[in-house]
Formats: sequence, structure tokens, C-alpha cells
Amino acid sequence: MPAIVLVGAQWGDEGKGKATDLLGSRVDYVVKFNGGNNAGHTVVIGDEKYALHLLPSGILTPGVTPVIGNGVVIDLPVLFHEIDGLNARNVDTSKLVVSANAHVIPSYNRTLDKVNERFLGSRKIGTTGRGIGPTYADKMTRVGIRVQDLFDEKILRQKVEGALELKNHLLVKVYNRRAITVNEVVDELLAHTERLTPYVADTALLLDQALKRDEVVLLEGGQATLLDVDHGTYPFVTSSNATAGGACTGAGISPIAVTRVIAIAKAYITRVGEGPFPTELFDDDGEKLRKIGAEFGTTTGRPRRCGWFDLPIARYASRINGITDLVVTKLDVLTGWEQIPVCVAYEVDGQRLEELPMTQTGFHHAKPIYEYLPGWSEDISGARSLEDLPANARAYVQFLEERCGSRISAIGVGPERDQTVVLRDLLN
Ligand code: IMP
Repeated sequence: MPAIVLVGAQWGDEGKGKATDLLGSRVDYVVKFNGGNNAGHTVVIGDEKYALHLLPSGILTPGVTPVIGNGVVIDLPVLFHEIDGLNARNVDTSKLVVSANAHVIPSYNRTLDKVNERFLGSRKIGTTGRGIGPTYADKMTRVGIRVQDLFDEKILRQKVEGALELKNHLLVKVYNRRAITVNEVVDELLAHTERLTPYVADTALLLDQALKRDEVVLLEGGQATLLDVDHGTYPFVTSSNATAGGACTGAGISPIAVTRVIAIAKAYITRVGEGPFPTELFDDDGEKLRKIGAEFGTTTGRPRRCGWFDLPIARYASRINGITDLVVTKLDVLTGWEQIPVCVAYEVDGQRLEELPMTQTGFHHAKPIYEYLPGWSEDISGARSLEDLPANARAYVQFLEERCGSRISAIGVGPERDQTVVLRDLLN
């Protein structure tokens, strides 16, 4: 029963596409198990560039069944906009399956996401403003609207009434906005029912049946380990479980079905939004990483904060996810530095710490302790095996592997699909 989990090992945008490309057509199902249209991946196939925010990347691979799992929150206009965009370019989207238990993002939660952030002022999270947090909050406080509610107008109306009771107090009395009517929300949601219906299924059952037939199920996490609501740098996190455990709850499969956990890490590190970031660079090196690595958000266009590779974070990701294979991306971006700092531990309030600090305050105080590795100047974008890499690039990768607690199974040396050094098969 090959269920493979794919997660980000850092703060997101690590380039999961590299791993999905390596698995290629051998995958039967690609499941998005968390998040919503706060994700962003650009997939380049030949001359065509596709920007996806909500749909699982498998939508572009013929033969794959893309699944939006129960752990996802869905902005329906965005879903149909992405489907229309792909159909216009002759991409078949008819195999898409959407969980009846996934929650939908009503437009009032987009409004609330933005006003919440303004209200928080200097304590803001730097969210993507897509309504993700408020929709997960509704799920937990049990006033959320699920996909299946769109099939029963009476129930939908009751649920919207319940949700708006509190929301309207917030909107009107706290945020000074206009109240929203039940009718406008019900109409907004019901407008999608007809189009949505053919896609909806009991996806947990579907995946269980696929696994029993020995088909390959890839569970793809949005965001990344340090943005996980439980295991990330809370409160500067997303509102879902982006680590390997989230794959089971967000897709409805058993932990013992998971045979492999692949994680992706950049050869350096980036983050968007607010929150602690020990190796963040504020100098020319940071600018250089951002420029060479094209580090601007796919969803929001925001410049990403850039820093050197952080081994305590990599070790943490290895532990929390049980990583079996690490894919290191963007090694080519590090070409041209005389020496490359790697954070091997932190200094927190005068003490050396090999692991992530236990408390948020500790993380805010963590200063990186660096070891310096010799750089390389050769163009590595054509490398396809370890031997093709200059000795110092090889030594850099080896150093990461020895210290990060995960074996490295592939290395990205450029943005194209084939610009990868593959060290072992990610499936077998
Ligand atoms: P939210 O997910 O929109 O609530 O934003 C919460 C935090 O997660 C913010 O710091 C966002 O910048 C970050 N975030 C959300 N999605 C992504 C992503 O796909 N890549 C990187 N950061 C993300």
C-alpha cells in the first residue's frame, strides 16, 4: 500500500514540484490534505507555465486523479477560476475529486482575515489574506460550512445563520463594517452547487480502495513544517497541520498506510510573513539570494525573507515528520559565494542549543552559530550525478546530510524538470 507523504521541511516554497516530477507518472492519486489557496506553485511544462494556488499539482499529469481532501478549505470561485484557466489551455480537469467533508471559505472570512490582520497591528501574522485562518477557526468552533452543506439548502441556511450571529457582531461592533445577510451568503454558496456536484465524493473511502488495489497515493502538504499550527513557529504559522501527521487526518488514511515521507528543503532558507527567523540576512547576501533565487511569493508577490541553511530546523523537520528522503532544491543559487555559512546550532541567552528552543521567546532570542564551508564558482546547472558536481558543492551536500538526520535523495540544480541530481528512486 504505497502512500507517500510529501511535505516542506522549512517555511514553505521549497519547490515540491521537484519531487512530484521525480515521481512522475507512477503516481495514481495526488491528494492535497491541508491549506487552501494560500499555497502557490508554478509548474513549467515545456513552454507552458501554470500558476496553481488551490488545485493539487497532479491536475497537470494525465492519468493522475487529483484529490482535494477533507483537511482543505476551499474558496469556490478560486477553484472554478483555476479549472477554467486549465480547460482554456486544454488541460482535462474532469478527474478531480473533492471531499464532501472539506470546508468552504465564505467571502465573509476573506473580509475577516484582512480586518483581523489590521486589528492585530504590530502583532500581525502576515497572512495571505485569503480567509484561511477564519475558516479553520470556524471548523474548530463548529460553525464552519462544508462542501456537503451546499446540497441541502435548509441545513445550509441554518448553518449560515449560526455563523453570522457572531460574525455580524464582530464585523459591525468591532470592525465597523456592514452586517452581512443570511440570504446573500446562501445565494453566494448555492450558486456553485450545480457545478461542484460532479466532483464531490467520499474521498477517504476512495483512497482506501485505491491503496487496497496497490495504487500509488501521493499526499501533498501545503505550506511546511515550521508553518504547521502545532509544530511551527506559533502564532506565526498557518492554521492547519502541514506536517506528515496532517496527511492522515487531512486525507482520512491510516498512519500505517504511509510507506515513505519525502521532504523538501532549499539549500538555504526563506520565509514570507512575520515571525522569528534566526539565520535571516539583512545584508547584500540576503539581497543576492533573493535575486538569484527569484524569491518572491507566488500567491502574494511579496519578497521572501532569505537566510542561510539552518540545521536545527532541518533536524527538527526530520524528527517531526519522520523523513525518509530529503530533496534539497536550488543548490545552484549558492554558486559564486567564496564561503557558505551553515547554521549548526543556536546561541540562546548565552547557551549553545543544538535543537529548536522549547519556547517561542527562546526562538526569538536564538542567534545562529555558523560553520563556514568553502564555496564553488563552477556552473552546476548541467550536473546530473554527484560526480558532475564540483568537490565543494559535493562536500556542502554531504555536510548537510551528515548533520540533518535525513538522507538526501535528490538535489535540484536548476528550475527545469530535468535539472536534478537523482541519488535514489523516491518510490522504490
Ligand atoms: P495564512 O496561511 O494565509 O493564514 O498565513 C499564515 C502564514 O503562513 C503567513 O506567514 C503566510 O505568509 C504563510 N504562508 C501561507 N501559505 C504559504 C505558502 O504556501 N508558502 C509560504 N508561506 C505561506
